[in-house]
Amino acid sequence: MQTKVFLTEDEMPRQWYNLAADLPSPMQPPLGPDGNPISPEMLAPVFPMNLIEQEVSQERWIDIPEEILSILYRWRPTPLHRAYALEKALGTPARIYYKNESVSPPGSHKPNTAVAQAWYNKQFGIKKLTTETGAGQWGSALAFACSLIGLECKIFMVRISFDQKPFRKIMMQTWGGRCIPSPSNETQAGRDILAKIPDTPGSLGIAISEAIEAAVTDTTGETRYSLGSVLNHVMLHQTIIGLETKKQLEKINEKKVDVVVGCAGGGSNFAGLAFPFALDKINGAEIDIIPVEPSSCPTMTRAPYAYDHGDVAKMTPLLPMHTLGHEFIPPPIHAGGLRYHGMAPLVSQAIVEGLLTPQSIHQLECYESAVMFARTEGIIVAPETSHAVATAIREAKKAKEEGKEKVILFNLSGHGLMDLSGYDKYFAGELIDYALPDDVLAESLKSLEGLPKPPVNKTGKW
Ligand SMILES: Cc1ncc(COP(=O)(O)O)c(C=O)c1O
Repeated sequence: MQTKVFLTEDEMPRQWYNLAADLPSPMQPPLGPDGNPISPEMLAPVFPMNLIEQEVSQERWIDIPEEILSILYRWRPTPLHRAYALEKALGTPARIYYKNESVSPPGSHKPNTAVAQAWYNKQFGIKKLTTETGAGQWGSALAFACSLIGLECKIFMVRISFDQKPFRKIMMQTWGGRCIPSPSNETQAGRDILAKIPDTPGSLGIAISEAIEAAVTDTTGETRYSLGSVLNHVMLHQTIIGLETKKQLEKINEKKVDVVVGCAGGGSNFAGLAFPFALDKINGAEIDIIPVEPSSCPTMTRAPYAYDHGDVAKMTPLLPMHTLGHEFIPPPIHAGGLRYHGMAPLVSQAIVEGLLTPQSIHQLECYESAVMFARTEGIIVAPETSHAVATAIREAKKAKEEGKEKVILFNLSGHGLMDLSGYDKYFAGELIDYALPDDVLAESLKSLEGLPKPPVNKTGKW
């Protein structure tokens, strides 16, 4: 019985995997305000050119610079665990594995891209990064990366999470970052929203507008913006998760995975684990690949595939993605990192193609599953991660009903030690399930009216 599988630092992957090179139907380009595809130069005030090159790259494999690897070694390779205790409690014939991304210093998968982005910005001569954060995981990851690499960092944190999660703010501060609640009075985008809705809980869409504005209005030209999910280069940096996992499964002679699960907010931890397995599926393997979202913010399961802005103030280009509409302000559920109106274009195109089968799930089932996980495997997972745990448990129960010895793999994207107030509310019976009402969804989708529509390209193979 081997409970954990480790890799040595020498065995860590040396390249990231780019799914864009292998998607059977091509990605649609991001569009500018005039409806025409944007050029890399148009993104230059927001991102450094070396990251823009990755964003548009069609190369299948991209080398990870040695200096980035040397920082990742502080916690990578991360362990792959076999969930023996959970399997026993469920009485399932399934073998359940989880990749433990909670072992990074900030406690989630987010530093995988934070370190890479900070490093590429530094190489490009940038001195300061701005960003947004939902639950605080991304903000703390970027503050951590900036402190190791030597950049200033300013973080706009969604107001509701800022209030619910004071410890994340202190982590950012400890790593030298400046964290302020969003919407704020520091940007025009923030002031506009506060004038309209003074007691707004905020949203990632608003915080993104503020962070981009703060970057592009810095006249020194030494500030850029950094996004913790959604974009192609972020998915790319996270693929180290799935690439390590494949090596680990090989080490223990586990030849075939049947089900791959990850929670999906903007899509990055899911993509990180799943994209290397999506390549196997493209090459003929039979795998169910499941991104999971909250029923209260059902981007992949109920929203259309459309062109939309990534933020409320329409500062980002139009991205082809599943979207609830850029004006969507999600209900304040505890999984702050899953409260985003859009989904990564790469994940969205893979859904359109049929390679992925998204699911949505209510928060009470998520907490119930997270508590079961804590009482068997021992780790208290982040509320976001609890969606992956709940789906893995559902799949393990299904395998039991079917009497099948399935292999189920999920991404443990982060620990929940800074998110205990959600658990507290769950134990106090204060949490409720909330399905987004049809009329609220229809109202929110009105913000898509008049925007160009992407073609729905699929081969029909899956
Ligand atoms: C622990 C954890 N998991 C998942 C997510 C969702 O983001 P993504 O879909 O980009 O992985 C977040 C976002 O904040 C997070 O903190």
